[in-house]
Amino acid sequence: MSSAASNKQAKSIISKSPEEISYMWEANQIVAEVLFVLHGVVEPGITTFELDKIAEDLCIRRKAKPAFKGYRGFPGCLCVSLNEEVVHGIPSRKRKLSKGDILSVDFGVCFKGYFGDSAITLPVGLIVSEKRKLLQVTEKSLLLAIEQVQIGNRISDISKAVQEHVEGNGFSVVRQFVGHGIGTSLHEAPEIPNYVQNGSSPRIVAGMVLAIEPMVNMGTHKVSVLKDGWTVITADKKCSAHFEHSVAATIDGPLVLSSRENFEVKK
Ligand code: CO
Repeated sequence: MSSAASNKQAKSIISKSPEEISYMWEANQIVAEVLFVLHGVVEPGITTFELDKIAEDLCIRRKAKPAFKGYRGFPGCLCVSLNEEVVHGIPSRKRKLSKGDILSVDFGVCFKGYFGDSAITLPVGLIVSEKRKLLQVTEKSLLLAIEQVQIGNRISDISKAVQEHVEGNGFSVVRQFVGHGIGTSLHEAPEIPNYVQNGSSPRIVAGMVLAIEPMVNMGTHKVSVLKDGWTVITADKKCSAHFEHSVAATIDGPLVLSSRENFEVKK
């Protein structure tokens, strides 16, 4: 789940021990499993409420607490954002997926006191090539950002990697919402903007865990929030995509805690 960008003085960044990172791996692997399962069931006709139920049931089986439900009053387990919705869409029995939609699914859990957070954007059936390009560019911008999670780099190196790839492909990055540190809280310092800001940016040190989440719009970067108080939509109603991973900075490089690799079909 993305965090609203603020201008507040940065709180201190909490580094995690290897043991804490192993707990965060467990939490994030539950998130990864849920997203993997949802990927398999997203199809025309299913409602976003049904997806939410699948996520909640799997959480119960894994003894994990859905992190978003009740967070500042958010009513669902999943954030489900269709087409021009950017992030924080609310699951609903009335929202049925149609062929050609794109659906962003953002999910988080708390497990043994530690949080996991990850998001993917999925095509619903066959989608037009412009939407396919939006998904590919957004996911690639996340992978390029993850490569920057190196000790000695700065948070702004992550921001720069996203912004350059996205804008180089003719899309825009959302500014009002940002990635974030994650640990025993869902949203910790530092903020991770998807564009380069003026001023200094924190150095990345071993043990930092970062939820990196490019939110990419086809048209303008400007967004607004619907009357429900949650759903963020693009100002021009053009499509938006969102991918997120929780990533630990280690001396061996980035460790993608929410990787879905372990759930892909084994050969
Ligand atoms: Co997040």
